Amino acid sequence: MKDKIRFNYEGNFIELPIFEGVEGEKAIDIRRLRNATGLVTYDPGYKNTGSCKSSITYLDGEAGILRYRGYSIEDLCENCSFIEVIHLLIFGHIPSKKEKEIFLSEIREKSLVDEDLKGILKSFPKTAHPMCILASLTAGLVAFTPKLGSYEDIEQMRPSIIKMLAAFPILASWTHRKSRGLPLNYANNSLTYVGNIAHMMFRRPHMDYKPNPIEVKALNKLLILHADHEQNCSSSTVRIVGSSHADLFPCIAAGLSALWGKLHGGANQAVIEMLEKISVQGNDIQKFIDRAKDKNDPFRLMGFGHRVYKNYDPRAKILKNIAKEVLGQVSNRDPILDIAIELEQRALEDDYFKSRKLYPNVDFYSGLIYRAMDIPTRMFTVMFALGRLPGWISQWLEMRQNNEPIGRPRQIYVGPKRQDIK
Ligand code: CMC
Repeated sequence: MKDKIRFNYEGNFIELPIFEGVEGEKAIDIRRLRNATGLVTYDPGYKNTGSCKSSITYLDGEAGILRYRGYSIEDLCENCSFIEVIHLLIFGHIPSKKEKEIFLSEIREKSLVDEDLKGILKSFPKTAHPMCILASLTAGLVAFTPKLGSYEDIEQMRPSIIKMLAAFPILASWTHRKSRGLPLNYANNSLTYVGNIAHMMFRRPHMDYKPNPIEVKALNKLLILHADHEQNCSSSTVRIVGSSHADLFPCIAAGLSALWGKLHGGANQAVIEMLEKISVQGNDIQKFIDRAKDKNDPFRLMGFGHRVYKNYDPRAKILKNIAKEVLGQVSNRDPILDIAIELEQRALEDDYFKSRKLYPNVDFYSGLIYRAMDIPTRMFTVMFALGRLPGWISQWLEMRQNNEPIGRPRQIYVGPKRQDIK
């Protein structure tokens, strides 16, 4: 540790170490700060705060680079299946053929959930948002697997991880089937992990189901693209909830709740709603761009901007091509796609967006693809969650394996001084 930061505070010189990540990003280690000075740091939204050391995902927002365990997102999308990426994120390497078979058979073995969960599902109104149902069922799963939950090492964590990977697509598909009034399905274990997600969501009881290969290929890429994104809002939530040594399942339920918001995973639903509004209101794209620029109007261009990317989001680049491919096979071109393309072009040429480095993010095109697959708009964030599940699990596992302390930030109190009841 060669570099240090040295500063004078109230006549005392304080030295804090600077350390470097493997890609050259540098951080001041402030762990001694409060003891040495009485000071804490203030950083709303954690814009300058590294909450952990992690070896899962690397992203360079300026250069538009995203890698899982060192592999570029482009390479993974082109050459891997989602199940291989799940294994890569959670266990650190792409599985061999044999490892993949074992991994899949462990998941298949556990791909049943207690039928009583159907009772919980049934008690929700049909109008309930699928994310609220999914978060409840996911947290509730722990009640049906009481043997799991005490973790000393990875071997004890593995059964919970496998159960989560097996049960989550079932519960996700049930939220969809409930909203469509369809009977609840289980997996068909002769299919791949992604083929099964499609099967569980789309199969009709009165017909054979043959997955559409273009859609399954697109779904595979979509899930890979969403699989992890380092310390985003929902993954940080999973880590912080898990740092209290809560069970994996409620941690994932907490991640789901964080993802639901429209500034995070809920943006994919908000993008389509925005594009539909533009269409209904006569395609006046400029009006929406002007509203997004107006500081007196809370409206933001959904699917634009990112905390870390100050360049084109590499995931959005891949998604734009998938959108063209999937929408190309649908006989009637979705007019919303044309609005999206024009909106993107106008925003990219506009000084407001250029000067703030606001580019389309992952949510800008994903909804168009889901829409072409006949997935209802309210299910889009559930689709994001299906992709993000391995990211949440790997972040939780890393946090537990590193024995990280309980997450508990400080605050700067600005409320009333001491006062007495008169
Ligand atoms: N439309 C209009 N202006 C924007 C937008 C937008 N979508 N995004 C940021 N800005 C402006 C913002 O008003 C601010 O302007 P100024 O400097 O004049 O005050 C500047 O750009 C910086 O924005 P910020 O709010 O400080 O940036 P942030 O890092 O806190 O927020 C964000 C990031 C993603 C929440 C934000 O860009 C946003 O609200 N985007 C729309 C919602 C969205 O698409 N979310 C999905 C994010 S990617 C996937 C995921 O995480 O799930």
